[in-house]
Amino acid sequence: MVSSVLLALGAAASWAAYTYVSGLRSNILKARRTNIPYIVVPVHPFNRLWQLTFWIWIPLIKMLPKSMWEDWMFIMQGDWAYKSLQDDFDKRGRQSFIIVSPRGMTLFTNDPEAIHQITQRREAFPKDTTSYTILSMFGENVLTTEGAVWRMHRKVTSASFNEKNAAHTFAEAINQTQGMMNWYFYKEGAISTSTPTIKTLEHDTMTLALNIIGYVGFGLRLLWPGQKLPEDTDPKLVKYGALEPPPGYTMSFADALATTLEKIIVLLVFPWALLKRLPFEFAKVAWEGKVNYLKYMDDFLKDKMADVRAGNREREGMDIMGQLVRSKYGKGGSKDGAELSDAEIIGNAFIITVAGHETTANTLHFTLLELANNPSGQRQLQKDIDTEFGDSDPATWNYEQNVNTMLASYIGACMNETLRLMPPVVEVPKVVSYNSDQAITIEGEKRVLPAGMGISLVAVSVHRNPRCWPTRPSKLTGAPTDLDDYLPERWYRTSESTSTSREVEDDSADTEDYGGFKGSDTSASMYRPVRGSFIPFSDGARSCLGRRIAQVEMIAMLAVIFQKYSIELAVDEWASDEEVDKMSAEERRKVYAQAQEKSRKTIKEANSILTLKLNGGKHVPVRFVKRGHESYESLKKSELELQLDDYLTSHAAQFQSDPTFAPYYQTTNTGHGHGRSSRGSAGSPVKRETPAVASSMMPAEIRVSRRRVTRAAEEIIQAAIDNDDDDGDDSEGAESEPEQRPSRATATATATATATTATSNALIRTPARALSQAAARMQLPATPRDVVQIAENGRIALRNRATSLYHESGITEVTQSTREALSTVTSVLFTVAAFELYCLRPELLPDRYAFTIPAIRFLGTSEYPVQVPDIFALLTSSFWKPALTWALTSLILPSLFGYFFNLSVAAAHSHVSASSGTHTRGRPRTSNVSAAQQQQQQQPEYVVDPLMFSIVKAIATYVVYAQGVTFGGLIDPVAISRINNALYSGWKGVLVGTAITGLTAIYDAVLRK
Ligand code: HEM
Repeated sequence: MVSSVLLALGAAASWAAYTYVSGLRSNILKARRTNIPYIVVPVHPFNRLWQLTFWIWIPLIKMLPKSMWEDWMFIMQGDWAYKSLQDDFDKRGRQSFIIVSPRGMTLFTNDPEAIHQITQRREAFPKDTTSYTILSMFGENVLTTEGAVWRMHRKVTSASFNEKNAAHTFAEAINQTQGMMNWYFYKEGAISTSTPTIKTLEHDTMTLALNIIGYVGFGLRLLWPGQKLPEDTDPKLVKYGALEPPPGYTMSFADALATTLEKIIVLLVFPWALLKRLPFEFAKVAWEGKVNYLKYMDDFLKDKMADVRAGNREREGMDIMGQLVRSKYGKGGSKDGAELSDAEIIGNAFIITVAGHETTANTLHFTLLELANNPSGQRQLQKDIDTEFGDSDPATWNYEQNVNTMLASYIGACMNETLRLMPPVVEVPKVVSYNSDQAITIEGEKRVLPAGMGISLVAVSVHRNPRCWPTRPSKLTGAPTDLDDYLPERWYRTSESTSTSREVEDDSADTEDYGGFKGSDTSASMYRPVRGSFIPFSDGARSCLGRRIAQVEMIAMLAVIFQKYSIELAVDEWASDEEVDKMSAEERRKVYAQAQEKSRKTIKEANSILTLKLNGGKHVPVRFVKRGHESYESLKKSELELQLDDYLTSHAAQFQSDPTFAPYYQTTNTGHGHGRSSRGSAGSPVKRETPAVASSMMPAEIRVSRRRVTRAAEEIIQAAIDNDDDDGDDSEGAESEPEQRPSRATATATATATATTATSNALIRTPARALSQAAARMQLPATPRDVVQIAENGRIALRNRATSLYHESGITEVTQSTREALSTVTSVLFTVAAFELYCLRPELLPDRYAFTIPAIRFLGTSEYPVQVPDIFALLTSSFWKPALTWALTSLILPSLFGYFFNLSVAAAHSHVSASSGTHTRGRPRTSNVSAAQQQQQQQPEYVVDPLMFSIVKAIATYVVYAQGVTFGGLIDPVAISRINNALYSGWKGVLVGTAITGLTAIYDAVLRK
């Protein structure tokens, strides 16, 4: 029998190994045929199980030699695209690569030419809807379907996305943003010129976007605290707009919607039948949100149907759900058979809410943070808002009149720049049609992609791809390009960009009209990115349906905020208000620089769960101040220079003819099609300009720094050697220029050459420079100092290599993580229990003879009978009686007591301050203590109190195993004696174990105090 089981297991393992190897082989062959570089990975990074457990495997894999994983590890980590941005494409020197696993392949590309073709040929490259299964939980919809079903959804839903409704959205965005700003300024702690420090900006922008989408999706007016519904509100709609739950509900509509969106992953992962029974808080909240939301939706659908049947007039305002109901139940219904089911109507209303609210909220949030980091950018923005609106009341702003100029101004530039750097949808998923292989041009070459292969259009990388965006060296970080910097001015660069990317004309491109806004993504009077290089809204037939709505909403929000207010990073962490008041301009600049550094670091920690945002309670604290009351106005000289420079370039047409500016424009080269990026080296009249990157085609690794010429020759030589390792800029205004990176072997020769080039550029002839030049040109014999230096360098290199090998082996991390995992009271409890189980196992599952390993003569071994635990004992009471007795006394009873008599619960509650507000997106908080923090503080330290657990286990052990109490025959005396015999030192051993765990729990509590 045992041998049959072993045989079956062996057969299953062999089959799994066979399919793994043959799948991998066949996929490698397919990848090879494409002629695109490919990387073999052991498991596909999009595999759901891998995505849930990669954090366990990665440290284990990293224990293997680095050569086994270094090529592919980058792609296996969650969120690689935003972490790596452009780096992993640069490293490979290619714009596309394929990941090959045994179960599938995916092409990752940041090639605008390829992206353009893929988005234009919907049938050949449909959407990979498997990535969006999560979003069809309330009904199929326009985002999650493909083919004929999608056409039908798109046709019905796109009817609402017209200019009339964009105008309604514009007005509502103004109204809601005013609501938010008023609320901020009337909050506790606000003074007339400044809000208190806001730690909930990401949450509040979500509420703002949710309130707007409530109007867009359902025609509802959602409120900020202190606001009231307009008098003429339809009484049927009052319950949806209320801040408190109406009768029959336990949550307001806004809270139900917000909770459902927040807990969307929980709703997907757990089967609903199980979710509603789970005793955990997160499950209860998720379930409550979902039940309330669906009830609102059902009622809403019925109300709308009643309206339509009664022939009630269509209400003023945008109301996508009303439009969907009318399309089905209205007069004559659908003319061409395109009709959604009720579930699909609810599914579409939901998806428009999801797609339309997080995306816009995150874009606004990041724009505000970037502007807080960039005070001079804010001034430019405010200048353009003043030109457009003066101090007119936003309620009087007019969509038709203002929208195009707003999009063409700094307002539009800020929005575009955020969408470029932080696109809410980081990767757009596509797939090669399942029906046939598809030909495509990639990097100028025809390639054939195999049917069914996944495709990821890496938006966040193509937006920073120097091959298709005009660049110049970063003045902020000294990096070779400024593509990682937030520079709204970029959108004023001229459009005949540095790009060498071709737009491929494609006869098979989709020409059908699928509804939605037809205009371009950016204003016609701004920089026009090459097609395929700017895809925050995707492109082609499956591009974002809400693009116009989103743009209109965001520019309205920005204009309302910055017409009257500025935003500043809060510096509370470094200085109090009183201290800031007393500071000089220079001291303020320094403290602000600290806040800038921290906020930039936090922004880099964003990650993508549905959309790119700051997750897990991460936030950047800010304050809004009334204009004219800013505390951090003073700019560094370099910032002023940059500002002036940018201004003169963007207003070249205005100033070029002015003789005062003639020297500036003569020395610059703005008119040659490269915009500012191609300005000559003479550059700014106020500061000597660094030259533009001569060719943005050069991958990062083949750029080297050219250092200033004031250095001594040996310094230059050493610098060139250093450049082999580090091609960063010199802090003293290094100039980047593409050159071939020197190999280590030729470093010295190249160093001499570099020194020669550098010195030839010297401006002033001092004796030191002349000496440097001579030294650089002549091959001088090595001095004793050089020899010592070389020997020392060798020693340091060897030591560094040894240290890096040690670090790369991952031993430190593994040791550290194991240590952290084991350094808890819970792990001590588990270790003690595991030891008891280890002692019990031979008694409960005795070993049985399985087979014999024959003697191997030449190794000199004799026959060895192999014993395995008798798993059939699991079917007998001889196993279960003692097993349950032990479980009862050592686990179940102690856990129950430890759960209910949990001293850490009381301790946790006493630590929570009374100030708490609600904490869903639907309603703003009334305190600055984040809800997540409060919830976390309220959580007891342990679910099961370890001290109580140990005490009860000791008592139960003593009573049952020492005293032999059977609780009226409930426990089998034979089981008691079997356990007593099997455990190490019987019941006394268990008591020692409980003493250890009890003392550990006390020690832990003392340490925490
Ligand atoms: C900054 C704001 C927004 C961004 C960056 C954005 C981005 C996108 C992207 C990249 C897609 C394509 C996804 C894919 O193919 O996998 C998409 C689709 C979609 N978006 Fe947006 N979106 C935004 C705002 C909105 C708004 C406000 C609405 C609605 C009110 C909306 C509704 C939709 C819908 C319905 C689709 C599916 C279209 C289809 O597949 O036919 N989006 N969005």
